[in-house]
Amino acid sequence: MVVERVFDVVADVAPVIRSGLPERRAKAASENATGDTQLEADVWADDLLRERLAAVDGVNWYASEERDAVETVGDAADGYAVAVDPLDGSSNVQSNNPCGTVVGVYDEPLPASGRELVAAGFVLYGPTTTMTVARDGGVTEYLLTEEGRTDLRDVVLPEDPLVYGFGGRVPDWTPAFESFVRDVEDDLKLRYGGAMIADVNQVLTYGGVFGYPGLQSRPAGKLRAHFESMPIAYVVEAAGGASSDGTQSLLDLSPSSLHERTPTFVGNDAVIGDLEAALPD
Ligand code: AHG
Ligand code: MN
Ligand code: MN
Repeated sequence: MVVERVFDVVADVAPVIRSGLPERRAKAASENATGDTQLEADVWADDLLRERLAAVDGVNWYASEERDAVETVGDAADGYAVAVDPLDGSSNVQSNNPCGTVVGVYDEPLPASGRELVAAGFVLYGPTTTMTVARDGGVTEYLLTEEGRTDLRDVVLPEDPLVYGFGGRVPDWTPAFESFVRDVEDDLKLRYGGAMIADVNQVLTYGGVFGYPGLQSRPAGKLRAHFESMPIAYVVEAAGGASSDGTQSLLDLSPSSLHERTPTFVGNDAVIGDLEAALPD
């Protein structure tokens, strides 16, 4: 099955990406489609993933945040589109903090709605390397080593929220969002590390909320719908949580362009409900 093969490839490539990080901490001279400075590691991980994922029968299109356009890599009329953030939180490589790889599998050509996701997952390069995959309504976490993959657990979001983490500078938050956060910080513990995947995995493990809000200077926020926001929304919702762009599930988004950004929130449904109530429609 194509989805299985996609995550077999990701599991095989992840240890290679991890082992290649130490000598690739420098910034490359280029910029990606959303204007971010590309690290050597971003480009290298992207090339590795494209080469291996393009070879999966049934994968028709490859897209990544490091490439301007979707690339046709198959010829099946009804193939899947794979959207990749090859290295999420790549600025953390220099400071030896966690980073990740994000993969969304859409069964329509891109740009596509979050509802076209049939599977999504991520690799977390932390003290250990884990891969978390949501498909068929469930979420499984695996330990990845050079020897292969070990099934660790079924991931279910804890009932009670414990941690929170929001990106962007506080003075750039909207007043309504800042007031919501002031309430959240009375109850929850701050956990924000600058790599979405690491912060989302804290929420999946301990319960709580992660987000990157729309800012006064950039109302769409920073995270990219196809490569980051919708795939993690798919995972968190499959684990029993909720997602929002401030008004609706992130899976209800239908981005009109490949690199479109969106305000992004994922976590316990009670907290997401409070957030939506706090933000103006
Ligand atoms: P990427 O390295 O793929 O560009 O992603 C970085 C993103 C995301 O991982 C993280 O949540 C966010 O940038 C952090 O942004 P700030 O540095 O503005 O906090
Ligand atoms: Mn990212
Ligand atoms: Mn990235």
